[in-house]
Amino acid sequence: MEAEPGFAHSIDQLKAGVGAVDALVAGISHVEAAETVRSVGYGGWPNMIGEMECDGAVMDGTTREVGTVGAVPGTLHVAALAREVMRRLPHVMLTGQGARRFADEIGFNTQDMLFPDSKRVWSKKLDMVLSDEERAAFPDIPLVPLSNVITDPERVRDTTVFLGMDQTGGAGVATSTSGWAWKYPGRLGDSPIPGAGFYADSRFGAVACTHTGEMTMRCNTAHSVIEGLKFGLSLDAAVERAAEDLLDLGTGFLGEVVIHAFDTKNNHRVVSMNGEVPVSYWYWQDGMSAPEKRQSDQL
Ligand code: GLY
Repeated sequence: MEAEPGFAHSIDQLKAGVGAVDALVAGISHVEAAETVRSVGYGGWPNMIGEMECDGAVMDGTTREVGTVGAVPGTLHVAALAREVMRRLPHVMLTGQGARRFADEIGFNTQDMLFPDSKRVWSKKLDMVLSDEERAAFPDIPLVPLSNVITDPERVRDTTVFLGMDQTGGAGVATSTSGWAWKYPGRLGDSPIPGAGFYADSRFGAVACTHTGEMTMRCNTAHSVIEGLKFGLSLDAAVERAAEDLLDLGTGFLGEVVIHAFDTKNNHRVVSMNGEVPVSYWYWQDGMSAPEKRQSDQL
């Protein structure tokens, strides 16, 4: 069975001695380019007004340096762009037109990111909910009422996170997504938010979350797992403790969350909660002949 696009590239890079962040970015770039992976890169979903705005991030667990970009227009390789924010700027996060300006400045081409099939699904959805008057005036109509009618958090399920450890024991993480389908323009999920959507600390491990960023941003979920490890919990206990905070949320937007985590003692755990079925993920470690597709535990 062929693994997630790019997974083999990250493995090859790690085997060749490349550092975790660069190895993970090399792999995730293939996911961003794959039309088959929805809610990431070119195969992703546009916002409510039909514009693609992608989020991505990287974190180096050894230095705890972070680079993130959010709501970036016209840009395929947002994880690599986030890597460049970390490398070149005295900042951690760039968003919107500022991120696009930075991309232009360092040679990341502007790309037409709206995949024809994504445009078709978006147009069909809009057609179903807009009146004739709204259609004529679109997009200059109030979007708040539309937000609760068409925004589709279920279509964020392909958000991609790559976690890994390099040959020096350096932990890293990279994330990439186009976020919720038909989201309000400018919406950021957790994928570019350190602590919520991802965290790496080579002393303890690395964590990244997928699905409902609106929940993990409220609980600082990724860092919460690392904090559990820091205070001596096992990986299972640290993940379950972070999950408890999510499961305790009773108001606001509630949806599925998946936590992916590994520690420095060769354990890993992927759990999903509030979902109907387990999610699959790919796993490889040194000594395995090929990556394996596995299923999350459900809490
Ligand atoms: N977890 C991805 C997002 O909420 O956009």
